[in-house]
Amino acid sequence: MTFVNQGDVEKSWERHVVECLRQGNLQMKFQNIKGTFDVLPESAAQTTGPVPPTSEWVAAENRIRKVMVAYNFGEIRTPIIEPTELIARGVGELTDIVSKEMFAFERGDTNYVLRPEITAPVMRACLQHNLAQTSGTQKLFYMGPCFRAERPQKGRYRQFHQFGAEVVGSSGAAADVEVIALMMSIYKELGLSDFRLRINSLGNENSRPAYKSALSDYLAPFRDDLSETSRERLEANPLRILDTKNPAERALLEGAPSLADFLDDDSREHHDEVKQLLADLDIAFVEDPFLVRGLDYYTKTAFELESDRVGAQSALAGGGRYDLLASELGAKTPLPAVGFAAGFERLFLALQEEDIKLVTPRYPDLYLVARGERAHHWVIGHAKSLRERGVSVEIDFQERSVKAQMRDANRLNVRFVAVVGDDELLSGEVVFKNMSTGEEIQLSTDHVSEEFFAAAAY
Ligand code: HAM
Repeated sequence: MTFVNQGDVEKSWERHVVECLRQGNLQMKFQNIKGTFDVLPESAAQTTGPVPPTSEWVAAENRIRKVMVAYNFGEIRTPIIEPTELIARGVGELTDIVSKEMFAFERGDTNYVLRPEITAPVMRACLQHNLAQTSGTQKLFYMGPCFRAERPQKGRYRQFHQFGAEVVGSSGAAADVEVIALMMSIYKELGLSDFRLRINSLGNENSRPAYKSALSDYLAPFRDDLSETSRERLEANPLRILDTKNPAERALLEGAPSLADFLDDDSREHHDEVKQLLADLDIAFVEDPFLVRGLDYYTKTAFELESDRVGAQSALAGGGRYDLLASELGAKTPLPAVGFAAGFERLFLALQEEDIKLVTPRYPDLYLVARGERAHHWVIGHAKSLRERGVSVEIDFQERSVKAQMRDANRLNVRFVAVVGDDELLSGEVVFKNMSTGEEIQLSTDHVSEEFFAAAAY
């Protein structure tokens, strides 16, 4: 684990400033940190990096919330910073996430980490507030940023955003299936169809140790043929080698003992029930005996939703059962749980590949163009009352020329434009032009809000 000391951060920051001053380069140019991105509004007419404008995020979040609520999951929001020890214990000291990818720092005598995932924090909250004990099985969902210091590439960022759900307090196979069904319903609601659900059983604590040693025994003679990562894993966590993408190692694994042969009765019955219930729900899946996950807390069910369309980072979502996490975090009584989490950024890549837009762009309803100082005051006042009726109105702030304001109105694609000047204020009549049909309607300056509201069919 690497902890960055706050003192070191300050020193390196000061060094940077001193260096800039020394080089006479007082104008520092700030950019967002590599592996992060800004989400811009539609009106910015550009997107940054991999993601669509804010309106698509809001639409995706709303649709996801709708499905979560239909399955009767309640939203939980946990802090972005957590104790480092929670993640180290929860996710596992030997995982890449904990050993290489944590944004961790220390302040005073506390170690903090920017959460790399939200399952361990949710379990912490359940245990801390005794949720399952006081109010039964918890069905919780969340959305929010996570942080992993991975090498950025398409579909893989240092700040990314997850949505996910956890059922805490139930050991039944129906809970696993509820979580998988919920995940599938979300992608269906979003209009996606091109993905594959892979499932496996990692067995319980009675099945796994025997399998681990069988796998180690099988791989040991080939140690020198393995990649450096797999050699490390052979010592620390041989199961993770099953995850390799290296073709030679995959070929070698063809002859390896299978985890399925090591499942005890409880794990096998659970797995069979999960598969039966999925089949009953017509949820298609492929069984993948090589599916292991990058987090150490899983027992029994593990699954991933994968798309061929989003590039090398093909996992849209993943999850599974984690019956031992609670006791790993210090709970005295067992608290079985199961859940999934998905990445928003990969969701957007998949939506883009399937040519799906969640929102049609929304443009302002009206541009009130002011000619002269009196009209400028008039449009400021009337824009406010129209806006309070829900009409989206744009005005100019600087009393620029009518031409400049018309140019703005065109750039913004507004539905209606009205030009107001001394003449209109004197006559008490103003013309509203529908910019797409060219149709003009004349309204009274005294009752613009009511009349425009009625005429523009709100
Ligand atoms: P995970 O597989 O590590 O699982 O992450 C879930 C999803 O988050 C991935 O399938 C992917 O879509 C997205 N994701 C992960 N890392 C990145 C990254 N660096 N950049 C972009 N997207 C990323 C978990 O986090 C578990 N907590 C899932 C879970 C919930 N298991 C049980 N309950």
